[in-house]
Amino acid sequence: MKICILPGDGIGPEITTQAVRVLKALAGDGLDFDTQEALVGGAAYRSHGHPLPASTLALARESDAILFGAVGDFSLDTLPRELRPEQAILGLRKELNLFANFRPALVYPELVQASSLKAEVVAGLDILIIRELTGDIYFGQPRGIRVLDNGEREGFDTMRYSESEIRRVAHVGFQAARKRQHRLCSVDKANVLDTMQLWREVVTEVGKEYSDVELSHLYVDNAAMQLLKNPKQFDVMVTGNMFGDILSDEASMLTGSIGMLPSASLNEHGFGLYEPIHGSAPDIAGKNIANPLATILSAAMMLRYSFNQAAAAERIEAAVRRVLAQGFRTGDIFEPGTRKVGTIEMGDAVLAAL
Ligand code: IPM
Ligand code: MG
Repeated sequence: MKICILPGDGIGPEITTQAVRVLKALAGDGLDFDTQEALVGGAAYRSHGHPLPASTLALARESDAILFGAVGDFSLDTLPRELRPEQAILGLRKELNLFANFRPALVYPELVQASSLKAEVVAGLDILIIRELTGDIYFGQPRGIRVLDNGEREGFDTMRYSESEIRRVAHVGFQAARKRQHRLCSVDKANVLDTMQLWREVVTEVGKEYSDVELSHLYVDNAAMQLLKNPKQFDVMVTGNMFGDILSDEASMLTGSIGMLPSASLNEHGFGLYEPIHGSAPDIAGKNIANPLATILSAAMMLRYSFNQAAAAERIEAAVRRVLAQGFRTGDIFEPGTRKVGTIEMGDAVLAAL
């Protein structure tokens, strides 16, 4: 299993180091990992002049899966857009056609109190958000900032989806629902946007092929509200790139910490990039306090989705549940009465539990 490791910026290197330790600890028993590392994001810009150098993209393409840390560096925010660290992840998604983004939001019993919502609202929560990742206003053309006749500047972006782009991610949503509670909620803004009217029509059409899955539709504003009011009504949600970006951050907070949530970004052949859904957190970088569990759980998703190694994935997930039950906590999920540990010590605890 050739794994391309892209640590990136901020806390990225610290957290991917712990995830790689966990993978290596599983080696043997039919699991054989060959890891190769490359620069990405601000780190790549500083040494190669580009956030996604050709050599990094080539290594990613040659690999069987990618483990990604995080990108983002405030000091580079004034660069032209195409050179900013974020372009690395957007470029990888587009170049590798990683259109289906799985973002589970799971509440661990031990962390129920960490949520800002009442325990009874979130206890047992298990939602899967599927976000389309290569279309929409993120990539639509034309876009830009232009000068109008009156000399005033105007910013513009284009929201667009083709039928085939909607159809393929809808299929992913229905198939995921089939493996869970057979309920799919499609989120759009069909009352206002033409793109989203087409979204709703195509998802409804695809739904005819999945009579065993109960399909519902919500406007995105209502979906944002329902996620806070009664999040347990949801099983799988499928939505476009922009709405998925926002709703998945919202859903992560239901679970108490964005530091706990992994994600998978897949193409149609199961090739994938795996990353924690949090960012590079430059304010806490290099201090050995970041939570590595989202990245460790991303490695578990990699084993499950790219390598079909469900048993190994479950071993990692069980080890994470065990360290939580043992009371180990990084600062982001710490509560009085638990044991505060650093990034490396959390990795040690997961290895011991394995
Ligand atoms: C995410 C992030 C990215 C996005 C940024 C870093 C480009 O917020 O993965 O959710 O907007 O997709
Ligand atoms: Mg986001």
